[in-house]
Amino acid sequence: MAGRIPEQFIDDLVTRIDIVELIENYLPLRKAGKEFQALCPFHGEKTPSFTVSREKQFYHCFGCGVHGTAIGFLMAYRNLEFLEAVEELADLAGVQIPRDTTDKNLVDSKEVFEVLGEAETFYKSQLRTAASKEKAINYLKNRGISGETAKVFGIGYAPEGWRNLIDNLAKNGITEEKLARGGLAIKKQTSGYYDRFRDRIIFPIQDKRGRVLGFGGRVLDKSEPKYLNSPETEVFHKGTELYGLKQAVASGQLESLIVVEGYMDVISLYQFGIRNSVATLGTAVTATHLDKLFRHVSKVVFCFDGDKAGKRAAWKGLELSLPKIQGNRQVEFCFLPEGHDPDSAVREFGSDRFFAASKVYSLIDYLLDSLRQKLDLSSGEGKANLLATIKPFMEKLSDTTLKAVAARKISDATKFDENLVRQEIGLIPRVNQRKYINAIKNYTSRSLQEQAIGLILASPSLANQISEAEMDFIRDNLSDCNILFEVWEKCTSEDLTTGSLIERFRGTATEQILLEIATVSNHLEEGQSAVELKEVFKKLHSKGVEQQILSIKNLSLADLTEEQKQLLRGYKK
Ligand code: GTP
Ligand code: MN
Repeated sequence: MAGRIPEQFIDDLVTRIDIVELIENYLPLRKAGKEFQALCPFHGEKTPSFTVSREKQFYHCFGCGVHGTAIGFLMAYRNLEFLEAVEELADLAGVQIPRDTTDKNLVDSKEVFEVLGEAETFYKSQLRTAASKEKAINYLKNRGISGETAKVFGIGYAPEGWRNLIDNLAKNGITEEKLARGGLAIKKQTSGYYDRFRDRIIFPIQDKRGRVLGFGGRVLDKSEPKYLNSPETEVFHKGTELYGLKQAVASGQLESLIVVEGYMDVISLYQFGIRNSVATLGTAVTATHLDKLFRHVSKVVFCFDGDKAGKRAAWKGLELSLPKIQGNRQVEFCFLPEGHDPDSAVREFGSDRFFAASKVYSLIDYLLDSLRQKLDLSSGEGKANLLATIKPFMEKLSDTTLKAVAARKISDATKFDENLVRQEIGLIPRVNQRKYINAIKNYTSRSLQEQAIGLILASPSLANQISEAEMDFIRDNLSDCNILFEVWEKCTSEDLTTGSLIERFRGTATEQILLEIATVSNHLEEGQSAVELKEVFKKLHSKGVEQQILSIKNLSLADLTEEQKQLLRGYKK
């Protein structure tokens, strides 16, 4: 990550920004009681269920379940990365982001970007000036890449020879050390450096803003390795970047993104009019990739060769997608006809028939199909096996709508009663669903810890009502109250809003839990909340006492302290 922004600054920023004013810039908000409402921008709806609370500095959609703080809204609505969202909010608030100037990375990366940019210019120029340029041009022609497409992707050529880049960039004062830091020059064991990319077609790998992060280089003949990629550097991370994202985003309104395996796949698809594909960089897709994809679109299509490697890649995509599906997010799998990759398929079938010529599966269909192939569903045992095998996948899938779809399909495939399947995969039987939802909404049925957290989340200053001694007692005796303690600790040490409190936990499991609790907690008047919180803590205290007694009950009297004996006697009475 490029330099740390102090946590305190982000807190202050979130406190300073009014989420209602921020969102008003993008959506027409209507006042509804203490809160504001709009049609949810994250799913299609006719009546508004998107709610913004000024008091909590928090938004939530009762329709699709999205929720978050001002930073979260900008990330989701404008497809921004965390740092970009912070920068934007800082601009809005008219404050400077304090940059830690002792952070070497931040200062240095700028230089690396400059070097990479100069290298890109050099490689491009070589298609016009290199002595061996003819063979590079012929290679691109033979592969059917138009001049126009080459330009869009900044394709270049690294000529034959060991020091072309080094010597040329030296003229601009760029040292070999700097080139090595950008991954472009390799240090010899003896002394000196040589160019990493030699006699290769060069594909610049850019970020969304068009900054060059690294390169991929392809040989022009059959030699090995076919592709050479930049190594991981301070600015290039294969597990994060997606080739072609800049071009896809620039091509206009994106509804989906297609994930393919190769540079050439992205380039050919683009040339044939499918302008929304991206490629991983010779690595399997990662969870970070998926987060990035879902920041831009709600639908991700994995498009791989039908071979073994393609199937393995698709399966990885499936496993990583399960926990990420929520709201209107969707994942599909497209398997190309035998022997094709996206490059060859789009050339043979054109963009019109590209998908029609392939097999396209929804996530659930792909999962079911893959599992079915390994089992014999004609026997009862096979059917039971299917249900058992699919369970762990269903546990990872948080989206209940998709789970319901899965339940119906599993029931169709196995002829097991649908309600039984629903129960097995962690969905409540249909008849009880209403009751279940009401139970969740019904405040008093939630665990005491959640109730307490819910109340504190809604009005963080309430935490000050609970003394340190009381909190210590509860923490010592109730093992499941750690989150409550963390929340209490943060809220008693400074003034926080709901939003800035949750921001404090960004990226942790606790954040998820807090978001869940914040979205179901009741809207009580402050005075009423204070009374409720006291009540909840009273119950927590009795639970703590019960636990304490349980833990000493089996000790022999001789081992007990006077205090513990009193406790036991008090309990027996
Ligand atoms: P073409 O033969 O140019 O059409 O390549 P392709 O895009 O069809 O490549 P392939 O399906 O063989 O590989 C997909 C991706 O894997 C490439 O775009 C590279 O990112 C990566 N890759 C392929 N071969 C190599 C290799 O030899 N070394 C490395 N590091 N990566 C490779
Ligand atoms: Mn290919």
